[in-house]
Parts: sequence; structure tokens; C-alpha cells
Amino acid sequence: MTDKNKTVKIQASRLQELIKNKLMTAGLPEDSALETAKHLTYADLSDIHSHGAVRVAYYAERIAKGGVTKEPKITYTKTGPATATFDGDNGQGHYVANLALEKVIDLVKENGIAMLGVTHVSHTGMLAYYVEKLAEAGYVSLSMTQSDPMVVPFGGSENYFGTNPIAFGAPRKNGRPIFFDMATTVQAWGKVLDARSKGESIPDTWAVDATGEPTTDPHKVAGLLPIAGPKGYGLMMIVDILSGMLFGLPFGKSVSSMYKDLDKGRNLGHVYIAIDPARFTSLDQFTANIEQMVEELHAIKPAEGFDQVYYPGELAILSTERNLEQGIDIPKHIIDYLESDTIHFDQYGNKDAFAE
Ligand code: NAI
Repeated sequence: MTDKNKTVKIQASRLQELIKNKLMTAGLPEDSALETAKHLTYADLSDIHSHGAVRVAYYAERIAKGGVTKEPKITYTKTGPATATFDGDNGQGHYVANLALEKVIDLVKENGIAMLGVTHVSHTGMLAYYVEKLAEAGYVSLSMTQSDPMVVPFGGSENYFGTNPIAFGAPRKNGRPIFFDMATTVQAWGKVLDARSKGESIPDTWAVDATGEPTTDPHKVAGLLPIAGPKGYGLMMIVDILSGMLFGLPFGKSVSSMYKDLDKGRNLGHVYIAIDPARFTSLDQFTANIEQMVEELHAIKPAEGFDQVYYPGELAILSTERNLEQGIDIPKHIIDYLESDTIHFDQYGNKDAFAE
């Protein structure tokens, strides 16, 4: 195991505190730093480490260099009974997208359905975080967001769409809600980085090289592949249209790059569509049906090589329970950075989307 892969165990509360402090040192006000720290800790607790503490050095660099508005002037505009925009003035994405939830809940409570576009924000992180909150409030929801163009469209050899994730959440009678949350690429960029750091090859279904040919060499990756060929490609287009183009934001290959122009706002889009199940059935009946579905899925005989069938999101919930009890495994170099006086490493300035 290389030094980079060495991990240490840390309690969630300590991790959250360290992240908050680092983001405040980089320049974020306490409320924004705290909300971002809660979000990143939620990701690490869920074992979705690609969207946890590993991102702090990058966020700190963008914040310190002026590419995030530290005290954004947010503009909420109701555009119809059930529709609205929430312009984030390029504030910290996790903070702005979380604030917008309050408005989504107001709209869906009143109308039974709501659609709200969060516009001009930086990276909004792990989408399960938001749909789980909407489900806790009793609503079924979808959330989608734009990300930088690092995916080849089906049949193409140049990048166009982002890894554009989509998440779904629904309330449950017992326990944490159901949530499903995925990038529309076969694998997240973080998994390619992981293979690089371990000196491993990658399956030829993940990515292509600069000529558009499938590659097994993680160092040659120039574009990621959509899930299920033309179907994932279509899905990432839908995400881009619903979370960006619809609100007049840059789309496709014009979406800003995570590691470029660190002194400028990213102008990304993020969308919520929320539905009140009580407008179609009773909430009790709906959550009882979800419960029945979970039980029926759990009762399915596992295939060879599997221990059981999990419902979507269940593994993240089980990871959270274990990590809350035993501490979270985080690479030591990340904890060293969080505990240090260093604000950021000048690591990302003007790198392309495929930076380490
Ligand atoms: P993933 O591949 O780890 O999981 C995708 C989904 O499959 C999850 O809902 C998971 O619960 C479910 N799942 C996985 N294994 C399962 C099993 N054995 N049984 C049942 N269900 C199972 O997720 P992915 O695609 O790597 O995305 C990771 C995160 O990255 C997501 O939270 C996503 O929101 C975030 N993301 C954010 C972006 C942004 O720009 N803000 C861009 C791309 C991804």
C-alpha cells in the first residue's frame, strides 16, 4: 500500500470540525463552512469518499482565489405557483443548494408539486444529501446537477457532457428514506484516480483515450464513458437540459471546468423536482408500500456471489451506521492537511478536468 493510500480512523464530529475550520480559514463565513462540512462528512460517512473530505483542498483553493462568492446575494424568484429560481450568486454550492430546500418545501406543500432551479452555483456535491432531506420532510423528489464536460457522447471521440448525476428520494415509514443517487458515467473520475494511485489498470468499459479508443490505462484517460452506451448518453443530456439549459445557463461543452479559472464563479445549475405523495395516495399508504417493497426486495434469493439484495441507498446507510460507531477511514494525508496551517496547495490552478 502506498503512503497515499494509508488511512486513519476519525470520528465524524472531529472530521466535520476540521473541514469547517479549514473552509473558514480559506475565507468562507461560518454558516457556509459549517453546511459544507456537514455535507462532506455525510459523504464520507456514506463511504462515498469521492465527494467527501478529499475535495476540501480544491474547495479551499477556489474560495481563496475568489472563484466562490463568500457572502452571496441570493435572489429567490417565484415564476409561477409551483416554479421558482434560486440564484446563488456563485456562492458555495453545498450551502446555496441546501438553503434552497426550504423554498422547495414551501412550494410543494402549497401545490403538491414543485420545480426549482438553483442557478449560478459552484459544485453541489453528493445529491443524495438533498433528496434525503426532502424525503424526511415527506416528499418524493428528483435532483440533478451539471458537471464539467469530461464524457464522450455515444459514438464520439471528444468530450461534451458532464458526469451529470441524478438522484431520487422517497419517504419511508421506518428508518431513513429510500434514495438512489448516481453519476451517469460508468465510473466516477475518482475511481480512475484511485486506479492511478494504486498502479492498477481499469476495465475497458470505463473510459477512452485521446483518440476515442477504449483504454485500460488510467493515465491515458481523456474521456469517461456514459452508462449503458446511448442510454446513459441520453440521460446525461436530460440532466444537462433540466438542470442548466432550462434556466439559461451554459450547457454541454460550455459548462465551466472544476479546475480552471479558479478566480471566477462556475455558474452551474442544479434542479429540484418535488412531489407530495399525499396528492395521489395517502402518505401512510405510500410509505407502507415502500416498506413492502423493501421487505420483498430483501426476501429475494441472492444470486451466486451475493450475500443479499440491498435496496438502492441501503449500502450508504449501513456504512453510515458502521462509520458512526467505529470512525471513518480517511487517507492520512488528507487529515494531515486538514490539521495543518496550509490553506491550499496551489494544486489545481488551470489544470484540466482530468487533474489528479
Ligand atoms: P455509486 O456507483 O457508488 O452508486 C450509485 C447508486 O447505486 C447508489 O444509489 C447506490 O446506493 C446504488 N448501489 C450501489 N451498489 C449497490 C448494491 N450492491 N445494491 C443496491 N444498490 C447499490 O455512485 P456514483 O455514480 O459513483 O456517484 C457517487 C456520487 O457522486 C453521487 O452521490 C453523485 O451525486 C455524486 N456526483 C456528483 C457530481 C456533481 O457534480 N455534483 C457529479 C457526479 C457524481
